Amino acid sequence: MSKLHILVSGGAGYIGSHVVKQLLENTDHDITIIDNLSTGLDQTILTLQEMAAGKVNTINFIQADLADFAMIESIFKANQFDALIHFAASIVVPESVENPLKYYMNNTVNTTNIIKLCNDYNVGKMIFSSTAAVYGEPSSSDIPVKESCPLQPINPYGWSKRMSEQVIQDTAAANDAFKYVIFRYFNVAGADVQNRIGQSFPNATHLIKVAAQTVTGQREKMAIFGEDYATPDGTCIRDYIHVDDLAFSHVMALEYLAENESDVFNVGYGKGYSVKEVISTMKEVSGVDFKVDQESKRAGDPALLISDNSKLLTAWENLKASELKSKHPKLFMYDDLKLICKTALEWEKAAQ
Ligand code: UD1
Repeated sequence: MSKLHILVSGGAGYIGSHVVKQLLENTDHDITIIDNLSTGLDQTILTLQEMAAGKVNTINFIQADLADFAMIESIFKANQFDALIHFAASIVVPESVENPLKYYMNNTVNTTNIIKLCNDYNVGKMIFSSTAAVYGEPSSSDIPVKESCPLQPINPYGWSKRMSEQVIQDTAAANDAFKYVIFRYFNVAGADVQNRIGQSFPNATHLIKVAAQTVTGQREKMAIFGEDYATPDGTCIRDYIHVDDLAFSHVMALEYLAENESDVFNVGYGKGYSVKEVISTMKEVSGVDFKVDQESKRAGDPALLISDNSKLLTAWENLKASELKSKHPKLFMYDDLKLICKTALEWEKAAQ
């Protein structure tokens, strides 16, 4: 593929930084990151710049907030981007229930604004971070969830992403020069296997991160939210995917759009683990028998959420992209819960 100039919004954040790393490892593309550093870190930018040293790629970082339309427009004016990979968003489900406008502004409104800029400044490709939360609580007959499953979010976070998907799809339908890949992420976890970047979100609520923080003593104990779900061990089941596999899917998406039309894909491994299984795996890899309490169910937690990832796997198989495939022969390289827990833990130890 010829060299592109890619705009990555939210590139200092957890998933965005792993995608930048994957772009550096697998492509020649130049990268401009915009991030307001509300949850992303300048240290992450420095680490990414170190990773880029000696490579043909360039990395340019601009601290900017997507809500500042004039500033973002000036960045579009000054650069000719070929593609946008859009991460910058708020992601905490309970917060979205308490403060829905934050989610509709940060997620739906800012996404709409940046799509408008893509259209005004001829940026023809967009890769969008959506979420399994757009499915809400699928009925058990819909598990594993296919992309065609009804979209019925049960919280403002899920709605803010569902609405953003609609804006993207309607815009693409009206503009042949604008193509997209929408990724619906399942439960993203783990960190760079070389432990250079990881999840630094303050007050994280994610299960694997919380378990790792309990191992390192940053938390005295953790809790299982609900043990009477209709699952074999009574705890919720999720499809955990290593952040680097999720990140590489974005590299694939750029190639995909060079060969194909726009589409929506689930990104997960297509198998699930219960909360109890995750906790016992973390105990096993750490060798620490940390304290786990039982708490009542968290509002809006579906019992079972597993992706049907066959659409993405087929897209990968059908992709020509011979140069990329010789560098990175498999779509998923880290499909291993122990490795996910181990890398999350190593990152947590280093971040202390
Ligand atoms: C949710 C969203 C996901 C979003 C993520 C961001 C849905 C369906 N998914 O994932 O799109 O990216 O939040 O915040 O809304 N748990 C415990 N104890 C803990 C933490 C979690 O028992 O200390 C349990 C939860 O109840 C849940 C599972 O672990 O059953 C996974 O929780 P979490 O890691 O927070 O992710 P989701 O809620 O699945």
